[in-house]
Amino acid sequence: MAIERTLSIVKPDGVANGYIGKIIARFEEEGLNIRALRKVQLTVSQAQGFYAEHAARPFFGELVEFMTSGPVVLMVLEGENAVSANREIMGATDPLQADEGTLRRLYAESKGRNTVHGSDSPTSAAREIDYFFSQAFDLV
Ligand code: CMP
Repeated sequence: MAIERTLSIVKPDGVANGYIGKIIARFEEEGLNIRALRKVQLTVSQAQGFYAEHAARPFFGELVEFMTSGPVVLMVLEGENAVSANREIMGATDPLQADEGTLRRLYAESKGRNTVHGSDSPTSAAREIDYFFSQAFDLV
Protein backbone atom coordinates (compact mmCIF):
# COMPACT_ATOMS: atom_id res chain seq x y z
CA MET A 1 0.00 0.00 0.00
CA ALA A 2 1.38 3.38 -1.02
CA ILE A 3 1.10 6.48 1.16
CA GLU A 4 -0.23 9.17 -1.17
CA ARG A 5 -1.45 12.74 -0.99
CA THR A 6 -4.49 14.12 -2.75
CA LEU A 7 -6.23 17.49 -3.00
CA SER A 8 -9.74 17.82 -1.63
CA ILE A 9 -11.99 20.86 -2.02
CA VAL A 10 -15.20 21.49 -0.14
CA LYS A 11 -17.04 23.42 -2.87
CA PRO A 12 -19.20 26.54 -2.30
CA ASP A 13 -22.40 24.49 -1.82
CA GLY A 14 -20.73 22.34 0.86
CA VAL A 15 -19.47 25.42 2.70
CA ALA A 16 -22.77 27.34 2.37
CA ASN A 17 -24.82 24.34 3.55
CA GLY A 18 -22.65 23.87 6.66
CA TYR A 19 -20.99 20.56 5.77
CA ILE A 20 -17.30 21.45 6.32
CA GLY A 21 -17.17 19.73 9.71
CA LYS A 22 -19.02 16.61 8.58
CA ILE A 23 -16.78 16.24 5.55
CA ILE A 24 -13.56 16.65 7.55
CA ALA A 25 -14.84 14.22 10.19
CA ARG A 26 -15.51 11.64 7.49
CA PHE A 27 -11.99 11.92 6.08
CA GLU A 28 -10.52 11.47 9.55
CA GLU A 29 -12.81 8.52 10.33
CA GLU A 30 -11.63 6.87 7.10
CA GLY A 31 -7.99 7.24 8.17
CA LEU A 32 -7.00 10.19 5.99
CA ASN A 33 -4.68 12.69 7.65
CA ILE A 34 -5.35 16.42 6.99
CA ARG A 35 -1.85 17.68 6.12
CA ALA A 36 -2.91 21.21 5.12
CA LEU A 37 -6.16 23.18 5.19
CA ARG A 38 -7.23 26.65 4.07
CA LYS A 39 -10.56 28.44 3.48
CA VAL A 40 -10.41 30.82 0.52
CA GLN A 41 -12.51 32.77 -1.96
CA LEU A 42 -11.15 31.76 -5.39
CA THR A 43 -10.75 34.39 -8.07
CA VAL A 44 -11.99 33.70 -11.60
CA SER A 45 -8.43 33.32 -12.88
CA GLN A 46 -7.49 30.94 -10.04
CA ALA A 47 -10.53 28.76 -10.80
CA GLN A 48 -9.86 28.86 -14.56
CA GLY A 49 -6.26 27.82 -13.98
CA PHE A 50 -7.20 25.03 -11.61
CA TYR A 51 -9.73 23.58 -14.06
CA ALA A 52 -7.65 24.34 -17.20
CA GLU A 53 -8.01 20.74 -18.48
CA HIS A 54 -11.78 21.33 -18.76
CA ALA A 55 -11.46 24.67 -20.61
CA ALA A 56 -12.98 23.32 -23.83
CA ARG A 57 -15.95 21.66 -22.12
CA PRO A 58 -19.40 23.23 -22.53
CA PHE A 59 -19.85 23.45 -18.76
CA PHE A 60 -16.53 25.29 -18.13
CA GLY A 61 -18.10 28.75 -17.68
CA GLU A 62 -20.72 27.36 -15.31
CA LEU A 63 -18.03 25.46 -13.38
CA VAL A 64 -15.86 28.56 -12.90
CA GLU A 65 -18.87 30.69 -11.97
CA PHE A 66 -19.95 28.14 -9.37
CA MET A 67 -16.47 27.64 -7.90
CA THR A 68 -16.11 31.42 -7.42
CA SER A 69 -19.64 31.92 -6.05
CA GLY A 70 -18.51 31.62 -2.42
CA PRO A 71 -15.68 30.38 -0.22
CA VAL A 72 -14.20 26.92 -0.59
CA VAL A 73 -12.06 24.81 1.75
CA LEU A 74 -8.84 23.43 0.28
CA MET A 75 -7.21 20.41 1.93
CA VAL A 76 -4.29 18.10 1.39
CA LEU A 77 -5.26 14.59 2.51
CA GLU A 78 -2.62 11.95 3.13
CA GLY A 79 -2.99 8.23 3.66
CA GLU A 80 -2.86 4.79 2.08
CA ASN A 81 -3.96 5.09 -1.53
CA ALA A 82 -5.35 8.53 -0.67
CA VAL A 83 -6.33 9.38 -4.28
CA SER A 84 -8.63 6.41 -4.76
CA ALA A 85 -9.71 6.34 -1.10
CA ASN A 86 -10.92 9.95 -1.39
CA ARG A 87 -12.72 9.18 -4.67
CA GLU A 88 -14.54 6.30 -3.01
CA ILE A 89 -15.55 8.49 -0.08
CA MET A 90 -16.83 11.21 -2.49
CA GLY A 91 -18.76 8.91 -4.84
CA ALA A 92 -19.54 9.50 -8.51
CA THR A 93 -19.50 13.02 -10.01
CA ASP A 94 -23.28 12.88 -10.46
CA PRO A 95 -24.93 12.45 -7.03
CA LEU A 96 -27.69 10.42 -8.68
CA GLN A 97 -25.05 7.84 -9.67
CA ALA A 98 -23.14 8.00 -6.37
CA ASP A 99 -23.23 5.02 -4.00
CA GLU A 100 -25.22 5.14 -0.77
CA GLY A 101 -23.25 6.78 2.05
CA THR A 102 -20.83 8.68 -0.18
CA LEU A 103 -20.39 12.42 0.39
CA ARG A 104 -22.00 13.35 -2.92
CA ARG A 105 -24.94 11.01 -2.36
CA LEU A 106 -25.43 12.47 1.11
CA TYR A 107 -24.91 16.17 0.39
CA ALA A 108 -24.78 17.07 -3.33
CA GLU A 109 -27.55 18.57 -5.45
CA SER A 110 -26.30 17.97 -8.99
CA LYS A 111 -23.30 17.15 -11.20
CA GLY A 112 -22.24 20.79 -11.08
CA ARG A 113 -23.05 21.52 -7.43
CA ASN A 114 -21.46 18.32 -6.17
CA THR A 115 -20.05 19.45 -2.80
CA VAL A 116 -16.51 18.06 -3.07
CA HIS A 117 -13.63 17.84 -5.50
CA GLY A 118 -10.90 15.20 -5.35
CA SER A 119 -7.85 14.68 -7.54
CA ASP A 120 -8.46 11.97 -10.14
CA SER A 121 -4.92 10.51 -10.22
CA PRO A 122 -1.59 10.81 -8.39
CA THR A 123 -0.31 13.00 -11.27
CA SER A 124 -3.29 15.37 -10.96
CA ALA A 125 -2.88 15.34 -7.18
CA ALA A 126 0.72 16.55 -7.41
CA ARG A 127 -0.27 19.37 -9.79
CA GLU A 128 -3.34 20.37 -7.78
CA ILE A 129 -1.51 20.36 -4.42
CA ASP A 130 1.28 22.50 -5.90
CA TYR A 131 -1.34 24.86 -7.36
CA PHE A 132 -2.67 25.80 -3.93
CA PHE A 133 -0.08 24.83 -1.33
CA SER A 134 3.59 25.33 -0.65
CA GLN A 135 5.35 22.10 0.32
CA ALA A 136 7.83 24.10 2.38
CA PHE A 137 5.41 26.12 4.52
CA ASP A 138 1.85 24.75 4.41
CA LEU A 139 2.19 21.00 4.91
CA VAL A 140 2.42 20.05 8.58
P1 CMP B 1 -14.75 18.09 -10.19
O1 CMP B 1 -14.32 16.77 -9.65
O2 CMP B 1 -14.53 19.27 -9.36
O3 CMP B 1 -14.03 18.30 -11.60
C1 CMP B 1 -14.66 18.85 -12.73
C2 CMP B 1 -16.04 19.30 -12.42
O4 CMP B 1 -16.84 19.64 -13.52
C3 CMP B 1 -16.79 18.16 -11.76
O5 CMP B 1 -16.30 17.99 -10.46
C4 CMP B 1 -18.22 18.62 -11.86
O6 CMP B 1 -18.64 19.35 -10.74
C5 CMP B 1 -18.18 19.53 -13.08
N1 CMP B 1 -19.00 18.95 -14.12
C6 CMP B 1 -18.80 17.79 -14.76
N2 CMP B 1 -19.78 17.60 -15.66
C7 CMP B 1 -20.61 18.67 -15.57
C8 CMP B 1 -21.79 19.04 -16.23
N3 CMP B 1 -22.33 18.28 -17.20
N4 CMP B 1 -22.36 20.21 -15.88
C9 CMP B 1 -21.80 21.00 -14.93
N5 CMP B 1 -20.68 20.68 -14.27
C10 CMP B 1 -20.10 19.52 -14.59
